[in-house]
Amino acid sequence: MIDLKDIMALCKRRGFIFQASEIYGGINGFWDYGPLGVELKNNIRDAWWRSMVITPPLDEDGTPLQIVGLDSAIIQAPKVWESSGHVAGFADMMVDCKDSKLRYRQDHLVVYLPPKNYNDRKITTGLGFAFHQEEELKAVEKKIKKLAKDQTTNIEEYYKVPLPEFAVETYEHIVAPDTEKRGTLTAPKAFNLMFETRVGAAATDDNKAYLRPETAQGIFLNFKNVVDSCRVRMPFGIAQIGKAYRNEVTPRNFIFRTREFEQMEMEFFCHPDEAAKWAAFWVAERKRWWLSIGLREDQIYMRKQDQDELAHYAKEGVGTTDIEFLFPFTAPGHGEIEGVAHRCDFDLTAHQNGSGQKLEYMDPEDTTKRFIPHVIEPAAGLNRAVLAVLCAAYTVDENRPSGMYLNFHPSVAPKKAAILPLTAKGEHPVLATKLYLELRKEYSVDLDIKQNIGKRYARQDEIGTPFCFTIDDQTVEDGTVTVRDRNTTKQDRIALTDVKAFLDGKIKNI
Ligand code: GAP
Repeated sequence: MIDLKDIMALCKRRGFIFQASEIYGGINGFWDYGPLGVELKNNIRDAWWRSMVITPPLDEDGTPLQIVGLDSAIIQAPKVWESSGHVAGFADMMVDCKDSKLRYRQDHLVVYLPPKNYNDRKITTGLGFAFHQEEELKAVEKKIKKLAKDQTTNIEEYYKVPLPEFAVETYEHIVAPDTEKRGTLTAPKAFNLMFETRVGAAATDDNKAYLRPETAQGIFLNFKNVVDSCRVRMPFGIAQIGKAYRNEVTPRNFIFRTREFEQMEMEFFCHPDEAAKWAAFWVAERKRWWLSIGLREDQIYMRKQDQDELAHYAKEGVGTTDIEFLFPFTAPGHGEIEGVAHRCDFDLTAHQNGSGQKLEYMDPEDTTKRFIPHVIEPAAGLNRAVLAVLCAAYTVDENRPSGMYLNFHPSVAPKKAAILPLTAKGEHPVLATKLYLELRKEYSVDLDIKQNIGKRYARQDEIGTPFCFTIDDQTVEDGTVTVRDRNTTKQDRIALTDVKAFLDGKIKNI
């Protein structure tokens, strides 16, 4: 299994992702996308938009589904978030450590419990050790060996129990993650995740507003506008990509959990009787999409959420299926990249009640029939998609100078091709520049003129460029170039005039 540290190092070295405000020491939970990172992110974003809005899937009769796009404001009227339930309910239960002064999400901590204590979840002898659920076993083992003098230190014998299963009274026997003292965790309390801001000059509570914690609400707010202006008929979808903000208490694992991130969400409005059918449809369709951008079948896990995990808006429906990916930091488990939820009529009803505006749908063929549609929502994280694609592409290969290459699917690769003149003088760079100017009309391509050719290939392998076209003496003689395949490193010769068609075939027809 690859290590997240290697991916982070590559991202910094090659200009994919940088820590935000790095020259000031950084700011936890925020990341900047560098020249290659932004191309990769845009390519994934565009693939999603294409699959939803430009070429939506066909229904079972072969008719294209109707899905339209939207770009709503990040800041909306504060009442929106009262109606949606976020002001009251978008909170995590937190525990503080009185010693380290750190704060943790209660459901992110697990307690390693000595074997004798397992049955009743009570710590009757010795200590329990709380760790973040993704902590490496080596670190767990080291700490237990150091502190658990009067109990077995064989980690294999310990039980891993989620902290929420413990009564607060037993916290006095638990050693928190970033301390060596016992009993420093406080009782859990709710912490709302929405970022607050003030709109206008006065800094009073009357001007308080929130940065959206999900893009979905902007879609519900515009449901009536879209129905009235766009000739959409049930079932139909509204799709949106944009930033969302959550004041996550423990941002972790690089760009997996951050405080600013991008969502790709589509609300699919349908008749309540058809909700189960469309939920199954979208679960299958979304899995197909993830495979189409380069994740492998054996890396994806489709997990039906348990009843007690469901969000407030999904409690009554057919449930939520999470699409999860085998990240290096979750292995052998998986981490969520998308949820496909049945939101029922929760949001439209809530906004109808909150705003006093009717948000029913009227059947155009029988105007006596009105109902509040149900919603199936595939909600994916763009940054988690970038991380999953990077992890899936990272391929160890000892035979390459940097010991690895990125095996990006050509459709998401930041650079589709590199054009490399063998030498920096004479005809080679002239022909290379001509080819570059031609290809860049359609594709993001690199023209790399100087340095030894092996080093230039190595750099392109590291950034995941699928093809390199090399201009050499033979190009001058007979108008052919070599095309080098990133994965096999094999080289073939093709005519200069065929290069564009070659790339079209590899990138567009897959
Ligand atoms: N509208 C439904 C909704 O927001 P969610 O499961 O909270 O559902 C959807 O978020 C997706 O957004 C997640 O599957 C994940 O990919 C991404 N996401 C959520 N919180 C995130 C965070 N703090 N950092 C990065 N991505 C996040």
